[in-house]
Amino acid sequence: MEIRIFDTPEEAGKAAADIIVETVVANPAAVLGLATGATPLPVYREMIRRYEKGDVTFSKTVTFNLDEYSSLPRKAESSYYTFMWSNLFSRIDIDGDNVHILDGCAPDKAAECARFDGMIEEAGGVDVQLLGIGTNGHIGFNEPADEFTGGTFEVKLSQSTRDSNIKYFADGNMPEYALTIGIGTIMKAKKILLMATGESKAKAIYAAVKGEVTPRCPASVLQNHPDAVFLLDKAAAKLLED
Ligand code: PGA
Repeated sequence: MEIRIFDTPEEAGKAAADIIVETVVANPAAVLGLATGATPLPVYREMIRRYEKGDVTFSKTVTFNLDEYSSLPRKAESSYYTFMWSNLFSRIDIDGDNVHILDGCAPDKAAECARFDGMIEEAGGVDVQLLGIGTNGHIGFNEPADEFTGGTFEVKLSQSTRDSNIKYFADGNMPEYALTIGIGTIMKAKKILLMATGESKAKAIYAAVKGEVTPRCPASVLQNHPDAVFLLDKAAAKLLED
């Protein structure tokens, strides 16, 4: 894996956006794997800026999001569907038909997960996958576990994830389950950009980069990916720097 360290989250986000924009300029129909959370916001701001400047069009670009809460209606304020449309999709020229976000309210969750994996394959796989990381080392919602996961599946969220994300649910009513792309699917992406900012991520980054490859720290699997780039700010890289 390649490690790049930046002074600020904005600079790390700009570097991630540069790679994404370059990919889309080279291949307008590129397939992007996208993430939610606070970390990718500078990436999306920069993608919007580059689109508004006329550097890039996303009109043929295809996207797949990593995850979505189970049983949360798409139009709910805290859904990842709402997050993606407010923070990126409504601000660029993407074709809504090319946007793929898991339906957490699908009556048959297993069928929804299989449908999603099928669509990714049909699209030719993900060219660039953007990832954040949880303080517990999760990627997507692949929580620490005894084994690495495979395809898209429904997961019970860990206490650590619930503690980190409860702030996004004004009524305190956070779903206990989510649908997430599995580690097997993430590892099939041709290029992976993991972005982490802030000191709260420093331990997880240290374990992912310097620790053993173990499903107890799901992000450590990226040590085995042929083209994984970690884009970190100084605070997240704090334990790596000595
Ligand atoms: P965050 O979440 O960007 O909001 O810290 C990252 C993650 O949980 O993957």
